[in-house]
Amino acid sequence: MTSPLALLGGAPAITRPAPHFTWPPLTSATHDAVLAQLRAGISIYDRSGVIAELEDALCGYHRVRHAVLTSSGTAALHSVYAACGIGPGDEVIVPAYTFYATATPLLHLGAIPVLADCDDTGNLDPADVKQRITARTVALMVTHMWGLPADMDTLREITAAHDLLLLEDASHAAGASITGRKTGTFGDAAAFSLNGPKPLSAGEGGFVLTDDDEIYYRVLLHGHYNKRCRNEIPASHDLYPYAVTGMGLKFRIHPLAATIALGQLAHLDTYLEGRNRIASRMRDALRGLPGITVIDAPDGVRSSWYGMILRYQPDQLGGMPIGRFHDALKAEGCLELDRPGSTCPINLHPLFQAPAVLFPRSAQVPAYKAGQFPRAEVFHANTLKLPVWHREEDIPLAHAYTDAFAKVIAHHSDLTG
Ligand SMILES: Cc1ncc(COP(=O)(O)O)c(C=O)c1O
Repeated sequence: MTSPLALLGGAPAITRPAPHFTWPPLTSATHDAVLAQLRAGISIYDRSGVIAELEDALCGYHRVRHAVLTSSGTAALHSVYAACGIGPGDEVIVPAYTFYATATPLLHLGAIPVLADCDDTGNLDPADVKQRITARTVALMVTHMWGLPADMDTLREITAAHDLLLLEDASHAAGASITGRKTGTFGDAAAFSLNGPKPLSAGEGGFVLTDDDEIYYRVLLHGHYNKRCRNEIPASHDLYPYAVTGMGLKFRIHPLAATIALGQLAHLDTYLEGRNRIASRMRDALRGLPGITVIDAPDGVRSSWYGMILRYQPDQLGGMPIGRFHDALKAEGCLELDRPGSTCPINLHPLFQAPAVLFPRSAQVPAYKAGQFPRAEVFHANTLKLPVWHREEDIPLAHAYTDAFAKVIAHHSDLTG
């Protein structure tokens, strides 16, 4: 008997052409706002116009005192570390499982990224963090992977007990929260990316949040020299003499990007509510299928659903390799199903295995090896990621994806026999 599976010649479950998921949602209001900004001006040197509007809106949304827009999330992370005074020889604990830019700015500052393993949600394991603390540790950086907030209560207890700075990379998790408190507001400072597919998107961009005036002034000095520093650092402050040159880097966002993000922010909660509804349906449909495990958020925790992570369990499907399972689902038409590549345990990247090739003076940075962070590595090797749609009209497509999973799983023996 021939198999109904598309990979083996059967009819695919989904025939709709690509793309099945696009982000961010761009409306005629976005077009109008960008055109209006184009006419109003495309260079903004100080905290005025759309830059001030978006920073004010970010402060209001997160209930923090300061927001500084940057050219990227990587730049925001670099500024956070620099503004916290992190420098040569300082150890900063960062997740092994994260996007590499969470850690790479540390190499530029001569600091030492100390990797810590994850738990079975992909987020930092507090117990492993504790074991990595030494006399040289100055900070902990937490990434909220794929939009699910990390266990901030426990992590904050650890940083408080050891007098460490608590920093967040909330790039995946704009709008996510723990009992109503937004990610990016739990520590001393936070960095966000506004890059293309991020829950809050400008196309390209990023921002820093902090309640601390000193960190704020230093973020400005790091990447926003001259006008912003002259206008915003009080003339009586010790740092004011450096206002013109700052630290010499320029990390400003483009006003057109800020315009896009301002429009997106106004709808972020509606988008996330829509995603949450559809994610519930998808999880209900997938839960209980053999071969995959869904990750549930604890009570009171709201994910941004940057992605829905499914953990593949090959032992439940006759040992079928994940690549074969992925190929079978793609053949069924699940074109947006992804196996993340560059977002992986960062000890697997040549940069963290042999940093001295690109950073010759980084002798103190450990040369990490594959196999050192077993939970992160197993998590990554078995990860499949689905997009989470936000519109009611996308519900049939979301169900078509979950039906395709059920079909491939029901017929998995055709692929393993
Ligand atoms: C967790 C995380 N941190 C930082 C970044 C870097 O952001 P950007 O691409 O805006 O520089 C990304 C981008 O993908 C990310 O996923």
